[in-house]
Amino acid sequence: MYKLSDRINNMSTSQTLAMAAKTRELKAEGKDIIGLSLGEPDFNTPDYIKEAAIQAINDNYNSYTPVDGYVELKDAIINKFKRDNGLTYDRSQIVVSTGAKQSLANVAMVMLNPGDEVILPCPYWVSYAEIVKLAEGVPVEVPTSVESDFKMTPQQLEAAITPKTRMLWYSSPSNPSGMVYSKEELRALADVLVKHPDIIVVSDEIYEHINFVGEHASMAQFEDMYDRVVTVNGVSKAFAMTGWRIGYIGAPAEIARACNKMQGQITSGANCIAQRAVITALEAPVSKIQYMIDRFKSRRSLIIDLMSQIEGFAITEPEGAFYVFPDVSYFFGKTINGYEIKDATDFSMFLLERALVATVTGDAFGSPNCIRFSYAASEAEIEEAMKRIKNALSEA
Ligand SMILES: Cc1ncc(COP(=O)(O)O)c(C=O)c1O
Repeated sequence: MYKLSDRINNMSTSQTLAMAAKTRELKAEGKDIIGLSLGEPDFNTPDYIKEAAIQAINDNYNSYTPVDGYVELKDAIINKFKRDNGLTYDRSQIVVSTGAKQSLANVAMVMLNPGDEVILPCPYWVSYAEIVKLAEGVPVEVPTSVESDFKMTPQQLEAAITPKTRMLWYSSPSNPSGMVYSKEELRALADVLVKHPDIIVVSDEIYEHINFVGEHASMAQFEDMYDRVVTVNGVSKAFAMTGWRIGYIGAPAEIARACNKMQGQITSGANCIAQRAVITALEAPVSKIQYMIDRFKSRRSLIIDLMSQIEGFAITEPEGAFYVFPDVSYFFGKTINGYEIKDATDFSMFLLERALVATVTGDAFGSPNCIRFSYAASEAEIEEAMKRIKNALSEA
């Protein structure tokens, strides 16, 4: 037995991993599982981006990269922020990292002291709470529900703020709920935040392009918030580049400098080939990736349509990302075909074992009444999954 650190012992194991392990076990038994648990586009990286990577290899991009990213990539990011978000940053404000996950970890590490509170509207992306805890911060969960469209209200934000509040982290469009804050809703939250000038906001905009309701809004667009916001983004989702591992921030220069220092001691600069490919991804017009967004939109209609025909799923129509997050508390306390369902984790396991459909329990996201379905899957898989679920539930 080795004596591991308190740091790792205190970290929760990702609940998505429990589901992944169970899925693998059932697949090994020859069961035909439909996986709707992964937060990953089922498309390949577009050819024009792949070509740029091949070119970079042939051009001998093989050395260590600048810790905060190639200048050409930083310039592409600066132009992207201007073009898509109306945000003005200079090179000193940009840090490229090994995925948005590392961007988030950098920010937590450089901003938090032990005991500092970070407000996390629930449901939040699984890693937020663990990253905050790793940095010795304290996650403060603000519950939202299907009835409030999973949106935190200004009143809830105000009530969650204490003298120890240091940060607010949220994603819009949201993983896992698909909720999108409008500009007016962000303004109403900003009106609370301006009264508390020490709070820094992490605005995770990695699903920005996968937005079905209209214009994406960024907290940093408000002049009175600009120098208190770290805008996090990356290419994993909209460009189908999860494995390339490139994320980035636009931030006040002092915070960017600190992230650069942190990253310089942990990973150094992000992968050279991937960075070159991302220059091409970001410089190309957004219309080049529209075909994927259109497919997500039609799959959203399909899954919502089929899911709303199943009794017991309370749904709020997702406005972005590629997830549906139904409230399934209707099933709690019921026994279906000999399977006792006490909570969302049981229900998710029931769907895996009896319907052979993999989902993720809402517990993982701080919302214990819900489960998450990813619809980054083929239309045929979505149809078959909903059919199986309907059948499994009618076997009572
Ligand atoms: C909301 C959110 N933020 C950040 C990430 C991390 O993205 P990356 O692949 O760039 O590390 C994810 C990935 O699932 C996500 O859903």
